Amino acid sequence: MQIEYRLLPKHERKSPPPQGTVLSFGMLRTNHMFVMEYADGTWQNARIVPYAPFSLMPGSMCFHYGQCFFEGVKAFKHDDGEIYIFRPDQNATRMNHSAEVLCMPSVPVEVQLDAVHRLVDVERDWCPSEPQSSLYIRPFMFATQDSLGVKPSATLIYCIILSPSGAYYKGGFNHAVRLLITKKYHRAVSGGTGSAKAAGNYAASIRPQIYAQSFGVDQVLYLSADNTCIEEVGTMNHYHVLKDGTFVIPEFSDSILRAVTSVSVLELAAAGSIKARQEVVCLDAFIDGIRSGEIIEAGGFGTAAVVSPVGGYVFEDGTELVVGDGGIGGHSRRLYEMYTAIQTGKAPAPQGWLSKVPRY
Ligand SMILES: Cc1ncc(COP(=O)(O)O)c(C=O)c1O
Repeated sequence: MQIEYRLLPKHERKSPPPQGTVLSFGMLRTNHMFVMEYADGTWQNARIVPYAPFSLMPGSMCFHYGQCFFEGVKAFKHDDGEIYIFRPDQNATRMNHSAEVLCMPSVPVEVQLDAVHRLVDVERDWCPSEPQSSLYIRPFMFATQDSLGVKPSATLIYCIILSPSGAYYKGGFNHAVRLLITKKYHRAVSGGTGSAKAAGNYAASIRPQIYAQSFGVDQVLYLSADNTCIEEVGTMNHYHVLKDGTFVIPEFSDSILRAVTSVSVLELAAAGSIKARQEVVCLDAFIDGIRSGEIIEAGGFGTAAVVSPVGGYVFEDGTELVVGDGGIGGHSRRLYEMYTAIQTGKAPAPQGWLSKVPRY
């Protein structure tokens, strides 16, 4: 697909933050975005244009029925001065899974990859190189048909924006979160949209998130709808580590997002770098495992924080379950270091994990 460049004149562009600036996560925007529209059964008008508001009809279906989804990808500047995107093909494939779940049209993976590489190339000066920083890439799609009937929208927009970002947590990796185990709220159910990055899943997670904060904890650990099994955290898959160092991730299902981070951890395990596996994780067995010392660490996997260790869990009766010594365990730390070394080019990456951004 031909991509048209309609770039800002150089003198009208904002400058990236100076080297050494401590960046927050997701707050800054670059000068340009990628946009294309779906109409008459085809994607069209692909272009890189200045970052600017959309003009949408108030009856656009995204506002009413939430036919929207997104992705989150990271690009890193390596010591050779080049920019490498981490596994963008995985996100492009998941984008199309989300599209299928929400009855929206897919975008060929090669079109998505071309768009993201070309946009990052235009904005290459915005890719930070400080430790724990990255150029966060946010592709998303939403329904634009002006219609008040609930049905698949006939017109849509696919867009990619960029955000130079620092560590997800202010203290970087040195932050063990605490999770609320709730039986009151659920994120997803079998047969629903949990395996898609549907915007509505995140809208529905805001009330439980505020509820969790009322217990003085950071986030919610969601259970299956029958409250028997561990599913995931609002923006991360969950893991725990057994005494022998094995990472255990709940089996993917149609109510759990197939995290690129988890998939990558499992691939590292298949290559023999670490020990990891998936299984259905029953809540009672998990609690017993922590109490008995069989489970020594726990945490979350996701693009934003990469590895987010969990120091403890709080229940709705106010009782608390501490994992290990409540801090950051050695297995989680080693995995975080291994994973981020691969992303930043400090350690060799498995074949196909890093995609170098060409100078077009
Ligand atoms: C619900 C949910 N689970 C898991 C993840 C982690 O997925 P990934 O590793 O692909 O970022 C995310 C973040 O994207 C998420 O929103």
